[in-house]
Amino acid sequence: MEDGNWYDADIERVVVTEQQIREKIQELAKQVAADYARFDSVLLVGVLKGAFMFMADFARALGQYSRPVEVEFMAVSSYGARATSSGVVRILKDLDRDIADKHVIVVEDVVDSGLTLSWLLKYLESRSAASVEVVALLRKPEAIKVDVDVKYVGFDIPNEFVVGYGLDFAERYREMPYIGVLRPSVYSRV
Ligand code: PRP
Repeated sequence: MEDGNWYDADIERVVVTEQQIREKIQELAKQVAADYARFDSVLLVGVLKGAFMFMADFARALGQYSRPVEVEFMAVSSYGARATSSGVVRILKDLDRDIADKHVIVVEDVVDSGLTLSWLLKYLESRSAASVEVVALLRKPEAIKVDVDVKYVGFDIPNEFVVGYGLDFAERYREMPYIGVLRPSVYSRV
């Protein structure tokens, strides 16, 4: 490839632009910083792999406005290699340390059925966090299967399969700086 990127040609429609993501992250970070101003620090728990890009940008933005920010990662699996949620949650990578008495914010790329998050919130509460809230860049209200409290939401989007900004299809498209819907022909290629 001479210039440009490989993925634009596979995208049928852009759902959230790079600029919209950037602005929303600043907005969310200011809001979180104000809400947590009375605490010594905040612990962000990023949910791999999808949240890696949002986590980096959100932590950086929050750092501009808030008290110290600590980061941890967990990896759980709900989809496997498929594009629909199965509801089966497995821990692939656990927290590295004790979170007792920490003010935790789970950083998620997308809340789809809510099954992953619902399970994760119970898990983090069982580890005696002082508080647990969620920041999710995307939420699909039409796909929700379990009632889960997401305090900070970037964008509510329709119930369609999206890729980019951390979200993959068959492990590709995570590096895209925006979020979009794939052309149908892409699915028949894989
Ligand atoms: C996605 C996403 C959320 C979860 C949301 O992860 O990152 O963690 O699914 O779905 P739910 O609300 O229906 O439970 P995925 O299992 O695809 O793994 P990945 O982040 O490693 O791509």
